[in-house]
Amino acid sequence: MDRLIIEGPSKMSGEVAVSSAKNAYLPILAATLVTSKPVHLKNLPDLKDIKTMIKLLTHLGVVVETKGDVTSFDSSKILSNEATYDLVKTMRASILVLGPILGRFLESKISLPGGCAIGARPIDLHLKNLKKMNANITIESGYVYAKTNGLKSADITLNFPSVGATENLMMAALFADGETVIENAAMEPEVEDLANFLIAMGAKIQGSGTSRLSIKGNMKADDFKEVTYEAIGDRIEAGTLIMAALITNSKIKVKNINPRHLSVVLHVLEEMGAAFEIGKNFITVKPSKLKWSKIHTAPYPGFPTDLQAQIMTLATKAEGASIIREEIFENRFMHVPELVRLGAEIELIGNAAIIQGNTKLTGCPVMCTDLRASAALVLAAMSAEGVTDVQRVYHLDRGYERLEEKLKMLGVKIERSNPGEYL
Ligand code: UD1
Repeated sequence: MDRLIIEGPSKMSGEVAVSSAKNAYLPILAATLVTSKPVHLKNLPDLKDIKTMIKLLTHLGVVVETKGDVTSFDSSKILSNEATYDLVKTMRASILVLGPILGRFLESKISLPGGCAIGARPIDLHLKNLKKMNANITIESGYVYAKTNGLKSADITLNFPSVGATENLMMAALFADGETVIENAAMEPEVEDLANFLIAMGAKIQGSGTSRLSIKGNMKADDFKEVTYEAIGDRIEAGTLIMAALITNSKIKVKNINPRHLSVVLHVLEEMGAAFEIGKNFITVKPSKLKWSKIHTAPYPGFPTDLQAQIMTLATKAEGASIIREEIFENRFMHVPELVRLGAEIELIGNAAIIQGNTKLTGCPVMCTDLRASAALVLAAMSAEGVTDVQRVYHLDRGYERLEEKLKMLGVKIERSNPGEYL
């Protein structure tokens, strides 16, 4: 298994462009199933999760072809409406094919994704509201069986603005018999990007990027237009790189990012003492002296849970004690024992972590437990004295494209010890 060997403390300088957002492309890939027309996607990130979704699409009968930086999808001849456990178990986002398949083909059989390291992650909001749209849903032998004699439009209010549920329902609603409204919809930029992608194909969606989506139904697969699309830059990768610069007291320029997608993150960091130069599609981080903060994760535009582990690492280096509350996932503190092994002083009380600042971190072997926890460990290793051996980096490879190449280019002493094939 690959591991990353990082020699700290690091100093960074230079410029880096973030990849296209994995969490925008996963629902967009699922959405290629709604149309019989070709879809061309630019700069798909070379990541395990993206490959898994493409494998699932291929299994369903989608013809996929890559030329240069464009990957084309032809969903005109779908052969199957079934996503098996083998495909779904490695990536929960596979459930996003449920809405498009059910809408277009009136029947689907998708394996239940099950829990994951950071929490139980139920899909009750997806299923409850598809039922409201006239789907008959049963769960048998680990599979969700969904069937309808035609989806009906509905007024939906989500109990919680779930990203995945909003995306699934938005795609299903394209095929309903009228206008569907989703209140308390997730407002994450990736949900907005999915809406914009569907609109580019000819869908009629209002309220993209807001908490009230209204989706015109009555679409047929043939009604959509051929489209070429490129997803937004990855705000979580950008946030991670910004925190990497701050933890190493360095100056770097992070490009291909819409700063609006990180406004609360930048605000929190500015309050901690960080200095930025913000352009239309870049953020330059300047060396800054940081102080403690009080942070809680929240649905967008709040502070993203996907940057909680990284900012916790940063808090170990700030002046004073910080408190971080995790409000989205019930078990997202798996990085804490590993950070403690590096020398962090962190106390957990329920869903809150109290982090002592100005802590000296020293390199040692650590283990990645999930995607964002891995990024937190890489940041910690960059600020630690000596060599850190970051193990199980396959978690990191699910969501960060060529991270060590980018960090190396910025001056970090980082090597993959067992390179082999990149993924
Ligand atoms: C997406 C992101 C993930 C991010 C998360 C929250 C992708 C591929 N993944 O995950 O990186 O951390 O948003 O920003 O885009 N919930 C329910 N019932 C449901 C659905 C969700 O109780 O039917 C709960 C979940 O257990 C969790 C919370 O709602 O506690 C947020 O989940 P959700 O917004 O759905 O996240 P994902 O779409 O799974």
